[in-house]
Order: sequence, then structure tokens, then C-alpha cells
Amino acid sequence: MRIFSGIRASGDKTLGNYSGGFRQYATTQEQGEAFFCIVDLHSITTTHEPEALRESTLSLAAMLFATNLDPERSTVFAQSHVRAHAEAAWLLGSVTSFGELRRMTHFKDRSEQQEFVSAGLFAYPVLMAGDILLYGTDIVPVGDDQRQHVELTRDIAERFNSRYGETFVVPRGVYPEEGARIKNLQEPERLMSTSAGNPQGVVRMIDEPDVIRKKFKTAVTDSGREVRHDPEPKPGISNLLEIMSVASGKSVPVLEARYDGAGYGEFKTDVGEAVIELFAPIQERYRELRADEGELRRLLGLGAEKARQASAPTLTAMYDRMGFVR
Ligand code: AMP
Ligand code: TRP
Repeated sequence: MRIFSGIRASGDKTLGNYSGGFRQYATTQEQGEAFFCIVDLHSITTTHEPEALRESTLSLAAMLFATNLDPERSTVFAQSHVRAHAEAAWLLGSVTSFGELRRMTHFKDRSEQQEFVSAGLFAYPVLMAGDILLYGTDIVPVGDDQRQHVELTRDIAERFNSRYGETFVVPRGVYPEEGARIKNLQEPERLMSTSAGNPQGVVRMIDEPDVIRKKFKTAVTDSGREVRHDPEPKPGISNLLEIMSVASGKSVPVLEARYDGAGYGEFKTDVGEAVIELFAPIQERYRELRADEGELRRLLGLGAEKARQASAPTLTAMYDRMGFVR
């Protein structure tokens, strides 16, 4: 089985990224041949600083290895190191409609936050479809916010296959049962993300323990006093329960029983401590890995070589079937 996922090199990665992304990568890598791509070409679709991109690409590589991706077993690489991605995006642009792209909620949300809305931001899902389809991917582990992009990828694959002949595997998205949508601790109606929302409610994977503790202590809850998962009336507590489930490995019903009758204060403190404990070993490995830039570049070089080999046959088939003289 082929597994592929991508993660943007930008900003600091959050508890949401851990839950919907990193955590799933480490478990799915056991199930087959896995590719994890630092999507630096996607990072330039909103305004970016060149120096910050270099820094965040290397930091993200360190974080991927720190969360247990094994470079022997999985292919971890930077998108810009494998030319096939940019080429595939151009070719697939011809089987993607303007109307489909215009409907993407990711585009609508992001474009509202930008003064300069780039053509790249609009075409973002086409580049993502190419990432996935180049590798004959069967499953795509992602958070719930990527569902629409994965569905579009399936449509693009099917359209290409029916126009030009069977070329692509039609991939399937895999979303965690709990923690596919971690919310901002201060604004539980909003996804936890570094690009928008109250920063006090965004837990970063590299936050110091005291910072994490404080963010959970001040997390908004709801009126009422029961620790119960019921997202409509209790968005804050439901979010904290999902976070606790991710951090402790216990299911939400088990946690509800455990905190039956306990106050919100005790519960929030425990969630904070569980997250601190979860991130402590990751942070330690991250610091070690990040300090050795030569080694990170070497590992990315190896990954790029494997990714080039794996993607080349698909790209050749695409050019062929579309009628390009080779
Ligand atoms: P990004 O940093 O946007 O490239 O996201 C990397 C991965 O993290 C993707 O699979 C996203 O779906 C996932 N992700 C981002 N934010 C959240 C969140 N708040 N909850 C769950 N998953 C998330
Ligand atoms: N769009 C994804 C995000 O913002 C990142 C991404 C790019 C991706 N290419 C991908 C995810 C391919 C899965 C597969 O999180």
C-alpha cells in the first residue's frame, strides 16, 4: 500500500497538526510504503519571507523525524526538490475546472485574509492533487480540513483516467476518529491554526511547558459543569476532551467516566499536563535534530532521490497519454 501526505513549511506547527498530521504519519508508515512531503511550493501561495521559508523547511524536517518518522522506512522529502510536482500541477490544471477551484472553502477563507490573492493560492489544490497522484497513493492521512481537497483529487484522477486512459490510482483520505479538528482553546468554534485566531488559544509543538500550562488553564469552557462530549452546547469542553484523548490514548467515553463529577479546573489542569508530557520527548529529539543541519540536509537529499524515482514513471505516463512528443 502506498501512503502519501504533505505538510506546509510555514509558521510553527500546532497541537492540531500533531493530531491530524504527525500522529497519523507515524502510525500509517507501518502499513506500507510511505511518502511524507514538506510542501514548500505550497508555502509560497501566501506572502512569505525567503529566510523564514528556509528556516521552517529545516525545522519541519526535524519535527517529522522527532515525531518518529523513520528515514530508513519512510521517504521524507521537500516538494521543491522533486521537479515532477510542479510539472504534474501544470498538466493537471487542464483537467480541473475554474468552478471546482472557486468552490474550495480553503481558498475562500485564505483569500479573505490576504491583501494580495495570488494565482498560486487559487491553484493550490491542483498542486496538491499532483503530489498525491504522482505516487500511486492509496491512502492520504490528513486532518478534516483537507477533506474537500482530497475529494477534488479523486475527481481529478477519475477525469484524467476517463479522458486519457487508466493512469492514476484513485486515493482515499484517512481522518483520525478523534482529534481530526482540534479547535482554538480561546475560540472553540474556530480551527486551531497559526494563521488566524487568538494566539493564546494556539498550542505550538515547541511551546515551553509553562506556556502550555497557562494556555490550558485559561482555555474557555462553557456554563454548566459536566465534563461531557457534546460539541453543540459544549464546544470548549468537547475540544478539551478530544485533546485529552489524543494526549493520553484513552477514548472519550473512558475520560468522561474518569472526570464524572470533577470540576472544569481539575480537568483543564490535567489536559495541560498530559500535553506537556506528550510533547516533552518530541521537543527533546527535535532540538537535537534541528541542531545538526548537515544531517537534515543529507536526509532530505536521500528522500528526494527516492521520491524522484518513485514519481518519474507516473509523470512520464501523464505526458505520454496526453500526447506530448517524447
Ligand atoms: P498544514 O500545516 O496546514 O500543512 O497541515 C498539516 C496537517 O495538519 C494536515 O493534514 C491538516 O489537515 C492537519 N491539521 C491542521 N490543523 C489541524 C487541526 N486544527 N486539527 C486537526 N488537524 C489539523
Ligand atoms: N494542503 C495541505 C494542508 O494545508 C498540505 C498538502 C499539500 C497535502 N499536498 C498534500 C496534504 C498532499 C496531503 C497530501 O495541510
